[in-house]
Amino acid sequence: MALISNISSTSEILTINWSDGRSSKLLAVWLRDHCQMPQSRNPANGQRLMNITDFPEDVSIVSADQADDNIEIRFNPDHYSKFPAVWLLNNAYDLKPAFDNRSAVNKTIWDGRSINSDDVFHSYPDYLAHSSAKTQALSAFNDYGFIVLTDVPTKSGTILDVIDSFGYVRETNYGKTFDVKTIVDPNNLAFTNLGLGLHADNPYRDPVPTIQLLHCLENTVDGGESLLADGFKAAQLLRQESPESFKMLTTTWINFRFQDIQTDLHSRAPFIEVNDNNEVIKVRFNNRSIAPIKTEPEKIKSFYKAYRHYAEILERETLTFEFKTKPGDLILFDNARIFHARKAFSDSGSRWLQGAYADLDSLYSSLSVLQRNQEAA
Ligand SMILES: [Fe+2]
Repeated sequence: MALISNISSTSEILTINWSDGRSSKLLAVWLRDHCQMPQSRNPANGQRLMNITDFPEDVSIVSADQADDNIEIRFNPDHYSKFPAVWLLNNAYDLKPAFDNRSAVNKTIWDGRSINSDDVFHSYPDYLAHSSAKTQALSAFNDYGFIVLTDVPTKSGTILDVIDSFGYVRETNYGKTFDVKTIVDPNNLAFTNLGLGLHADNPYRDPVPTIQLLHCLENTVDGGESLLADGFKAAQLLRQESPESFKMLTTTWINFRFQDIQTDLHSRAPFIEVNDNNEVIKVRFNNRSIAPIKTEPEKIKSFYKAYRHYAEILERETLTFEFKTKPGDLILFDNARIFHARKAFSDSGSRWLQGAYADLDSLYSSLSVLQRNQEAA
């Protein structure tokens, strides 16, 4: 069935009445800027070959004609464009809201009661052997913000092979990888390895590493369970329970800092970041690396109220997904969405997690190509 019922135009606006009853009114300057012809776009990669200043602001439509599944437009100054109807349907700015792959509205928001282990635990040997299993695992990561790959070889450095499978390591002052290693002294039972509250890593970097990996190489201690929480859920609860506190945390920028003898890292960002549609796209929380808070004097009291509310939400047990990592488990999570924590552990035994950072853009690119190839197959 044809996509378009009929079209009409003025010098400024192309009106398309779609067969499904909707209609679009598209501005001449937008159409000219989105010309899909090979002289305007590189056919291989879709990159635009002209600049906005290459045509005047008052560019106008001379004629618009429907030809099969295309719309042919002549512009003044003289330029000819042919738009596939399907392209216009997919991209008309008045038909679809902007799509933001980072936005919470395009994710499955979860808490400890709603998450299902089967959705997030994925076999690494299967992931390597079958592109369908890899697509499934990376899609789950996109949706839930984390996955646990199981049966990853327990050899130091394997974490870098996992990163190679979807993207690139993000090297930092901690190196390509870092070790979270504790050997508990059995002669000193008083020694307890403290728990760590929910946090995101490295908010003091600019940009923050958007993927963190933790690979369990040894774990014979009692306790030390891993906890994960969906920061988008925490932000959603704050927005529901106190819209003014939510607004405070999206508009107050916080300084974060880390310094040691060789390093002095600074950044400034809000606890909760929203996009132009007021949808949550990134969250931060790490009380250890908040630098002195500087904001307008009249805001400080309500800022602290909002900050406390957010922190109290993060202490709710219902929020967290708890599991004990075993050797061969590798947790892969979106560090701008998922907060992580660990419970205290004690008694004898050893615990060795190897960590590394990477970035979301390359993972999403790998996922898009996998999905594209599957659709084409
Ligand atoms: Fe951490």
